[in-house]
Amino acid sequence: MFILVIETSCDDTACAILEAKKEKKFLKFNTLANVVSSQVKIHKKYGGIVPNLASREHLKNIDIVFNEAIKQAGWQKKDIIKKIDLLTVTSGPGLIPSLLIGVNFIKTLAWVMNKPVIGVNHLKGHLYSFLLPLEKTSNHSLKEINKLFPAISLIVSGGHTTLLLMKNLYDFEIISETRDDAAGECFDKIARLLKLGYPGGPAIAKEALKIQNLIDHNKFNKSEFCKLAPEIKLPRPMINSQSDEFSFSGLKTAVLYLIQKLEKNNNLKTTSNKLFKKYRSLIAWEAQEAITDILVKKAIKTTKNYNAKTIIISGGVSANQRLREKFIQKLKQEKLAINFIAPPIKYTTDNALMIALASFLEYSKNKNKGKTWDKINADANLQLIKNK
Ligand code: KG4
Ligand code: ZN
Repeated sequence: MFILVIETSCDDTACAILEAKKEKKFLKFNTLANVVSSQVKIHKKYGGIVPNLASREHLKNIDIVFNEAIKQAGWQKKDIIKKIDLLTVTSGPGLIPSLLIGVNFIKTLAWVMNKPVIGVNHLKGHLYSFLLPLEKTSNHSLKEINKLFPAISLIVSGGHTTLLLMKNLYDFEIISETRDDAAGECFDKIARLLKLGYPGGPAIAKEALKIQNLIDHNKFNKSEFCKLAPEIKLPRPMINSQSDEFSFSGLKTAVLYLIQKLEKNNNLKTTSNKLFKKYRSLIAWEAQEAITDILVKKAIKTTKNYNAKTIIISGGVSANQRLREKFIQKLKQEKLAINFIAPPIKYTTDNALMIALASFLEYSKNKNKGKTWDKINADANLQLIKNK
């Protein structure tokens, strides 16, 4: 079957076309198109996503991205009515002005084409992104996939930090979430405090790498680097707590107080100040250490508690190299026979292909064969699992 997908939940306008088939032993995929248009340049100026601007940009870009996807597939516009079996859109969670653009676009297509539509939860896309990349054509052995379960999935994005137990490919339950800020939100807020720009995750990672490279080459001398360095120590909220939940808002506040203290003690007023720049790399490094320590420790603890065979990470923060390294190091150090899976970097952030996968899995599970256009709605707070 052919699935056409639109994703506009946040600040990426994306469209994908996927041919998918479930056989007895294999899931067979053929990626015909995968187009993402990023709005980072627009939102950078404001230090974060401005929802109404995001909506305006989606509106400008959506048919460009759609036309590009049809072109990538080698189709003509008139082919799509004949070829497409199912339309899919991210229906939530996300920013409502953004979601509405994608949802209304797909509703119109469904109405004109008289095709069924599935509204997919954005987090389900991240959850299944470990099955990416799909080469032009790829066969996934169900036997091999099933060997991974039970698995613990850690979704770490700008809006979510969620631990899930995946009993098999289709069955999962939420173990815990964050009590306040998400890990990506924490990266973004700390980057803003450090005046490192948006998006904060990659900016902090780049800054932290300056210090990490010195450490890795035994060239890092804290007291030499900056005489106040011992003060640059951040808390790791809830790292040792019994609860599986996360909490990141305290970390951002700790960075705020730390900056205020350093400014007061050193008369650091401006970002052009050389000392501030030195401190900034150290704070970025320490913040990345704190966030990744928490994620790794809690995910491994949960994996042990549930006797799971695999840890799967996904979402924008899973692009973080230090996070990946720490998972691998820790599993090795503790001699744990636990598989570790992370999607290729390009599929960690928002894309429509991961939504296409999730859509096909819902469809092939027989639970969701699609609805008519008038039954699809955007829901900013869409829950991953319906309340019982
Ligand atoms: O999954 P995603 O693209 O969008 C949401 O669904 O939220 O994730 C975006 C988040 C942002 O907070 C961004 O700062 C973070 O992922 N991020 C990173 C990295 N790349 C993106 N965080 C840490 N390190 C990175 N390399
Ligand atoms: Zn996302």
